[in-house]
Amino acid sequence: MNPEIAKVAVIGAGAMGSGIALLFAKSGIYVHLVDIEQSLLDSGIEKINKLLKRSVEKGKLEVEEVESIRSHIIPMLDIKKAMEGVELVIEAIIENEKAKKSLFSKLDKICNEGVIFASNTSTISITELASVTNRASKVIGMHFFNPPTVMKLIEIVKGKETSSTTVDTITKLCDKLGKISVPSNEAPGFIVNRVLWQFLNEAYSILDEGIAEKEHIDQAIKLGLNHPMGPFELSDYIGLDVVFYMGEYISSQLGEKYKTHPLLKKMVEEGKLGRKTGEGFYKY
Ligand code: NAI
Repeated sequence: MNPEIAKVAVIGAGAMGSGIALLFAKSGIYVHLVDIEQSLLDSGIEKINKLLKRSVEKGKLEVEEVESIRSHIIPMLDIKKAMEGVELVIEAIIENEKAKKSLFSKLDKICNEGVIFASNTSTISITELASVTNRASKVIGMHFFNPPTVMKLIEIVKGKETSSTTVDTITKLCDKLGKISVPSNEAPGFIVNRVLWQFLNEAYSILDEGIAEKEHIDQAIKLGLNHPMGPFELSDYIGLDVVFYMGEYISSQLGEKYKTHPLLKKMVEEGKLGRKTGEGFYKY
């Protein structure tokens, strides 16, 4: 890998950001983990601590290793300070184009010109995100899967102006993280989420049309397609708001065939976002 990538910043300490930070720390890379409120940073660190504790209990990590991994993750609220000395920034904030553009525009003014900006967006155009910066050749999609420490895949998404040097650097970094990277040209939802969106939307229709109960749909998909989770379990795991934003973006770009099922919209409006709120399609 590029020998210079020894320190990164991860913006957003939610489900993905905390997992991504842990993944880097496990590979010996220092991480400045940023969020907008101390309580959110605290809950990100708590998630990391729980994952580390579980790894020790399962015998996958030694207690002495935990201390070293934890020392590689530095939680920070001051975004300016968090950019000091980093070679790569990975944003993992809310799936909203305006919010991500506003962040990249701000970061572009703070960071040295050599710093690579990677977005963990599930769907949004990398070219669009790059357009608010003066470093389009250094803006790239690095799409992790949930949970980032476990899932093997990282989709590497090229914007129109992403340079081959940036792609090479990120590909080597993925190798160092022990992941398998798959390159994709830019398109709404890239590879996996374009397929996933149609799959989930179809499951919502089957439920809404009264064809089968959610438990039975989940069971059928798990056994019939050899999936580890059914579509409703998976939706709750990802977060219904995250699925909703992903679908709204894909349908806005690709048209009627991809339209969000009203059932999903209704549940998001009711605040039933899945595991993170204690209720989604199932109760937790
Ligand atoms: P989340 O809601 O769990 O976490 C987002 C975090 O970002 C929150 O803690 C929030 O306070 C913080 N945040 C928002 N604006 C910020 C800002 N301007 N500066 C700093 N922090 C800010 O969301 P999650 O699930 O972690 O998703 C994050 C991104 O990762 C989204 O783009 C999503 O589409 C993508 N993604 C999500 C996956 C999933 O399964 N949940 C899988 C792969 C990608």
